[in-house]
Amino acid sequence: MRALGRACQFFAALAVAGACAAPADRAAAESQARVDRGRELAHDFNKGNCLACHSAPRDSSAVTLANIAPPLIMIRERYPDREALRRHIWDPMQRNPNTIMPPYGKHRILTDEEIDLVIDYLYTL
Ligand code: HEC
Repeated sequence: MRALGRACQFFAALAVAGACAAPADRAAAESQARVDRGRELAHDFNKGNCLACHSAPRDSSAVTLANIAPPLIMIRERYPDREALRRHIWDPMQRNPNTIMPPYGKHRILTDEEIDLVIDYLYTL
């Protein structure tokens, strides 16, 4: 009888652990999905097309010979201010009026939500 009681406690604990782990797993899966979508947008010729100018050395799926812009690397470390990075992608001409980088937000090449997804991806590089 005592063994049965202990077994019940064990399974109850497992059930509680399972219930607690589920939302964390879900959150991780959702943020991975955002990164994957951001990567697609960044690589897509008809969307970000970032690889036309930038390499992304830490992304093995980023196949490009581009070297006319700085490599997209260590973005989270170099741009910890997400808002500043968003402003840069929205309109790079604010920082450099002569840049060849397209103003993704101002010219509606990407929506605000799409820019946000691209930033989620950039923060993994
Ligand atoms: C037509 C070329 C071109 C395209 C396409 C382009 N960029 Fe750029 N990007 C540049 C250049 C050139 C710079 C260098 C800074 C400048 O010109 O002001 C730059 C700078 C940057 C920087 C700052 C890099 C650093 O090392 O500080 C980031 C971040 C960036 N681009 C992100 C992107 C993203 C994300 C995309 C796609 C959504 C993209 N760029 C598409 C040309 C481009």
